[in-house]
Amino acid sequence: MENFEKTLEEIHILTDRYVLFSEVCALPPDAEVELDLGCGKGGFTAAMAEAFPDRLILAADIMLGRMRKVRKKVVRKEASNVRYLRVDARYLMGICLPDRSIDRVHILCPDPWPKLRHRGHRLLCSDFLMPVNRVLKEGGIFHFATDDPEYMGAVVKLVEESGLFERAGPEAIADVAGFKTEFERDWLAEGKEVPHIAWRALKPVFTGAH
Ligand SMILES: C[S@@+](CC[C@H](N)C(=O)[O-])C[C@H]1O[C@@H](n2cnc3c(N)ncnc32)[C@H](O)[C@@H]1O
Repeated sequence: MENFEKTLEEIHILTDRYVLFSEVCALPPDAEVELDLGCGKGGFTAAMAEAFPDRLILAADIMLGRMRKVRKKVVRKEASNVRYLRVDARYLMGICLPDRSIDRVHILCPDPWPKLRHRGHRLLCSDFLMPVNRVLKEGGIFHFATDDPEYMGAVVKLVEESGLFERAGPEAIADVAGFKTEFERDWLAEGKEVPHIAWRALKPVFTGAH
């Protein structure tokens, strides 16, 4: 059994106290690692876990109740390749995960905070792109989806002006195209479109200009 800061039914509860991720769970150097960030009830995580038993899937959400649901779903599928993290995405991505440790970061249907006065709550903002780039292996994939056209437009602009990513073709996420999150299923049932976009992480260039 791995060493955890605190565990509850195998859900690792990460607070903002400094902790080495390797003490929370092992990331085998040769394993493909997928991160479902803000995984919600875990339909996407569970589908990946079942389809790709050789990959390690990190399921992360700030809500413990959601993590319990994810775990139940995965256990029902008898998959053992998921690690459950009750954690704030900003802490996980900013501090906790090692550099260049993840093959793909999936951020699917995050809360769009559509009202102008709530925009500051959005997960995807300029400050968050460097942490996404930092945790991705070179050439790793950032996969994003939302039903909110304004949020999608804002994220595309931010990512593509950041110099940290280049647009990847649909083949970068083709293997998971059939897996739907709970929110995506709901939006599709309402007749909404949920576009998916993938970007490849570039090596950041620091110009040192001042
Ligand atoms: C709109 S739901 C989408 C869930 C899932 N990806 C889906 O598509 O069904 C957004 C999820 O992000 C989680 N979340 C929001 N802010 C977060 C944060 N700062 N860190 C981690 N998870 C967060 C919420 O608890 C919620 O489960």
